[in-house]
Amino acid sequence: MKRKTKLKKTKLENQLVGPFPAMLVGAMMNGKPTYTTVGAGGCACLAPVLCASIKNTHYIFEGIIKTGSFSVNIPSTALVREMDFCGIVSGTTIDKSSLFTSFFDEAGEAPMIEECPLNFLCKVCDSTEIQGFTMFFGDIVAAFAGEDYLTQGKPDPIKIDPIIMMGFRYCSLERVIGRPFSEGKRLGNAVGIEENLI
Ligand SMILES: Cc1cc2nc3c(=O)[nH]c(=O)nc-3n(C[C@H](O)[C@H](O)[C@H](O)COP(=O)(O)O)c2cc1C
Repeated sequence: MKRKTKLKKTKLENQLVGPFPAMLVGAMMNGKPTYTTVGAGGCACLAPVLCASIKNTHYIFEGIIKTGSFSVNIPSTALVREMDFCGIVSGTTIDKSSLFTSFFDEAGEAPMIEECPLNFLCKVCDSTEIQGFTMFFGDIVAAFAGEDYLTQGKPDPIKIDPIIMMGFRYCSLERVIGRPFSEGKRLGNAVGIEENLI
């Protein structure tokens, strides 16, 4: 089962490198939509729960606390400038509500971004503090995809073209390289393991 090639290792600084998916987290604050760039987040477990770690001093923080609702919007690479901008400027000094077209769903208060191909509306179900940040966990209460970003009714990763952050760079997905629960099965079968495979 072992791969034959040996990787010669170099010790790195104990710093975050990635990969992290870039998300725009939305919430209502002072009666207006606001959006903040978040790299520390994603899926929290195998139930439909997303998480986003927000610095306690950020403008959006109070909006999430007050409304108990946030949105996770996945920008495609075409929105890299807007996405980065929302991570550079704070809603305390600049009104970020007009950057995007916001839309809403009755299931929660948080605004979602029409220009993003994927949107998840979440209701806060839990949170935990870590080093000046709060990791908000949110049940997905509504989800949307742009129709042009689907293939056979399912979100298509290449069409959605999300932004991945790694090594202080923004990158794109290039191609599909396999299917979950399938590639490992092939390896298992190749070495004669049939049991315990889903
Ligand atoms: C690529 C990138 C990733 C970021 N990830 C996070 C994050 O995970 N959590 C966080 O609290 N801030 C993160 N930030 C910083 C905030 O987006 C930034 O401070 C923003 O201006 C805060 O906006 P607000 O005060 O309007 O909420 C990130 C910024 C960038 C550019």
